[in-house]
Amino acid sequence: MEKIIIKNKMAIDKMRVAGNTLARLMHEIESMVQPGISTYELDDFFEKRMLQEGLMPVCKGYAGYKHATLISVNDVVVHGIPSKEIILKSGDFVKIDVVGAYKSYCADMARGFFVDEVSDTVKRLATTAQRALDAAISKIAPGVKLFDISYSIQQIVEHEGFGIVRDFAGHGIGKAIHEGPTIPNYGQAGRGIPLQVGMTLAIEPMITEKSYKIRIMPDGWTAKTIDGGLAAHVEDTIVVTATGAEVLTRLSGQ
Ligand code: MF3
Ligand code: CO
Repeated sequence: MEKIIIKNKMAIDKMRVAGNTLARLMHEIESMVQPGISTYELDDFFEKRMLQEGLMPVCKGYAGYKHATLISVNDVVVHGIPSKEIILKSGDFVKIDVVGAYKSYCADMARGFFVDEVSDTVKRLATTAQRALDAAISKIAPGVKLFDISYSIQQIVEHEGFGIVRDFAGHGIGKAIHEGPTIPNYGQAGRGIPLQVGMTLAIEPMITEKSYKIRIMPDGWTAKTIDGGLAAHVEDTIVVTATGAEVLTRLSGQ
């Protein structure tokens, strides 16, 4: 497993700026997620706004990736590549995932958006992913075991009859996008390392309508459900505090 790095106040302050800025930009982009816009245009907007706000779009250049964001539509679970050919239409479920660094410290965030009216299944998937993330965050405190996070996500998602993707997981985050620990979205309560004050974690349930199995497209990135079922993904970066967790990728008061 990659190294777990406990952050000091200076590091957390930078990650808070990165997270808050991403949260603001996610809010800005919401009104642009409309029929007729391409995922390329959404990415372009996000990248330009990040640069204006002093955030480095660190996905760009990571493992040869060429864009600031990953935009995944409908049966694409994660890592969709922005494209001029992917034009949004009414009923689409769009997930935007982005990592931004402020003075070298990263925050990682994903949110789902509805294009006009979506199906009840989309609504239920989106709500369930958000509920699972919120429940996991509310469990976090020093001494809590890592897989208590995993377990709480699994409980909520499987209770709704949805699948949990096994091939990707949440992760520690800091100067690197991916640090230790790896945080699966399923697991046994009471297991894993104890959480400590100053750990910074990206928690990201990835859930599916039917089978949890995914397939990577020939582009090497796009991860789709094998059966064409819909998928949801939502992600926040948090820091473990003395009393619980502070979510760095939400605007204060949210
Ligand atoms: N949230 C994504 C993840 O944790 C970010 C990947 S960055 C990329 O997998 F560079 F790989 F695109
Ligand atoms: Co992530």
